[in-house]
Formats: sequence, C-alpha cells, structure tokens
Amino acid sequence: MKVLVTGGAGYIGSTTASALEDAGHTPIILDSLIRGRREYAVRYPFYEGDIADRELLGRIFREHPDIGATLHFAALIVVPESVAHPYLYYHENVVKSLELFRALDELGCERIIFSSSASIYGSNTGSDFKVSEDTPHAPDSPYARTKHMIEMALEDMSRALHFRSIALRYFNPIGADPAMRTGPYDEAPTHVLDILADVASGRIPIFRITGVDWPTRDGSGIRDYLHVWDLARAHVLAVERFDAAFDAFGGDFIPINLGSGRGVTVRELVAAFETVWGKPIAKEEAPPRDGDVAGAYASADRAAKLLGWKTELPLTQTIADALRWVHEVRPRMLGY
Ligand code: UFG
Repeated sequence: MKVLVTGGAGYIGSTTASALEDAGHTPIILDSLIRGRREYAVRYPFYEGDIADRELLGRIFREHPDIGATLHFAALIVVPESVAHPYLYYHENVVKSLELFRALDELGCERIIFSSSASIYGSNTGSDFKVSEDTPHAPDSPYARTKHMIEMALEDMSRALHFRSIALRYFNPIGADPAMRTGPYDEAPTHVLDILADVASGRIPIFRITGVDWPTRDGSGIRDYLHVWDLARAHVLAVERFDAAFDAFGGDFIPINLGSGRGVTVRELVAAFETVWGKPIAKEEAPPRDGDVAGAYASADRAAKLLGWKTELPLTQTIADALRWVHEVRPRMLGY
C-alpha cells in the first residue's frame, strides 16, 4: 500500500518508513525539514513542505491517487520549548493538524493514524504507575496539551467526516533502526539513553540521575521504554489491520497505547546500560528536572488484541543498537 508519512524525515517517522518498505509498502514522505533530516526523506518519494499546505497535499494525492492511509508524525516535540513558546506549539501542532485532517478528508483519505503521546496521561497514573487507554487525561505541558487537543479534534472529525482514525500513544521510544539506516540526531540529546551513550563516549562527563525521591521502588523515575523498531512495526500493523481493528472495536476513533507493559526505573536502566557497555559509567544523584514526573508504564492489552502487536526486542538489544548508532553512525552523519 502507498502510505503518506508526514514527518517522515524525523526520528520515528523515518524508522517507520523503513519498516513500511521492509513490509512491502511504499512510504510517500511529506516533511518541512524544519527539524527533520533530508537524507532520511530522500530515500523515498519526497515532498518538502508544510502539512497545512492544501495545494501541496492536492499535488501529492494527484500524483499518488492510490495512497491508502496517512501516518501523521509531523510535530514539534520538545517540552521545555513548548513551555517557552506555547503559541508556536499550538499553531504548529494543533492548528496545522486540523488543516491537514480537513484536507485529507477532501482528498478522500479514509485512514489516519496519529502519533500521540503517553504524556497526555500526565501524573494521573495512580500508585502503580500503570495507565490504560481509559485513564483520564491530565496533560501537564503545552506539548502534551497539543497532543490531547489533536486527539479530541481527530475523534470529533472522524465522527463527522469520511475518515476513521487511530491515535497511537507512545511511551518512551529509544534506540535506533537495528539496520542503522536511521536514528536520533540531536547534537545535544535530552533523552536518557542518548545521554548515557554520550557519557560512555566521553562527550558528557557524568550522568545525573535526575530525581531520586519519587515514590517508585528505588526512588528514581519509572518509564516504559520500547525499541523504536518495535514502535515502527506497530505502525505497519496499524496500517495493515486498520479495517479489522474497527470491525472488532467499532466507532470511528481508536486510541491505542504502545509500550512494553513493563516499567523500568532510571537506576535499573543505568545498571542494564553498564552491563551492555561492559563497565561502570560516572554518575551522580541530582534533583528532578523542571516538569519531571514519577512516570508511567502502559497497559498494552489493546495493542495486542487489535493489532496483534507486542514489543519483541529486549532492553539489552535496544541499548546495544543505541550505542552503535551514537558511537559509529551519528558522528559521521553530523560530522564531529
Ligand atoms: N533522566 C535522568 N538523567 C538525564 C536525563 C533523564 O535521570 O540526564 C531520567 C528522567 O528524570 C526520567 C527518565 O530519565 O526519569 C526518562 O527521561 P527522558 O527525558 O528520556 O523521557 P521523559 O519520559 O521524561 O520525557 C520524554 C520526552 C518528552 C516527552 C515525554 C512524553 O523527553 O519530550 O517523553 O512523551 F514529552
């Protein structure tokens, strides 16, 4: 199937494009390259531009009338930036997604799969930190609120217009494509595993365990980490099983958690990292970052039932893939 991939030059969108290709589908990339990488986009038919550009969307569907589904990844995703620049985030994420959805409806696209985020649950996780799709939303940053608002709009538009939609709520995707085609590319990484890899290579002097007094089993933050390749595979299944999922679930809109169903604390992640790396890394305890939360992990039953998906790659492989990427491929790509 031909699949329109907005944000297909970004970290998750590009990895998903590879997974689509491996499964015999054809990704068509739409990306503004404001944050994405040109070398990720040009592997496929590529349109450089904005998701709210109706004329461009019209051209894409004229040139590829057989597009069967749209995967909508394109978004700004940095929480502190969203706190400092809320208008930018509401405009780029919410307003432009509404324009995209309206245009997709007019162009006859019947299947939309939206990249949502577990951050919409906020701190609303109860004492066991497990959240299901029915856990009430409590988004606590402008970024998370944009995901929450887009989901609400998408649900309402799915009911009223001609398309149906699935919102995939990601927990913490980490690692890189096991075939090393794509991976994270921030020069100054903010995610925990990329920071650990930079500490191992000496680019960052010490790892700070940010938050040691959370009500978790060892006081450090808990998250549901999943290999980005497992996440990419979930999108392929969402495309392939889209209609069957609605046959089973009903309605016009389905939210689905994508996580491993297992919580891992920062201290546990560091221990696993040191095992894979083969030696201890420099580390110290530190206060939580601004806006940090204790964390959450997924009830992933719905993904298993509707998509036949569960995570397959163990944390050790995820760490090994991240290390290869950060130490061997990323320096060549970024030229340092
Ligand atoms: N952590 C450290 N040291 C660091 C960096 C992180 O101990 O140097 C800890 C954090 O305190 C947290 C855990 O590692 O407990 C994970 O942190 P990440 O930043 O990797 O992930 P978060 O879940 O905190 O946040 C991520 C993205 C956000 C996004 C959120 C939900 O950074 O942009 O997931 O989708 F909003």
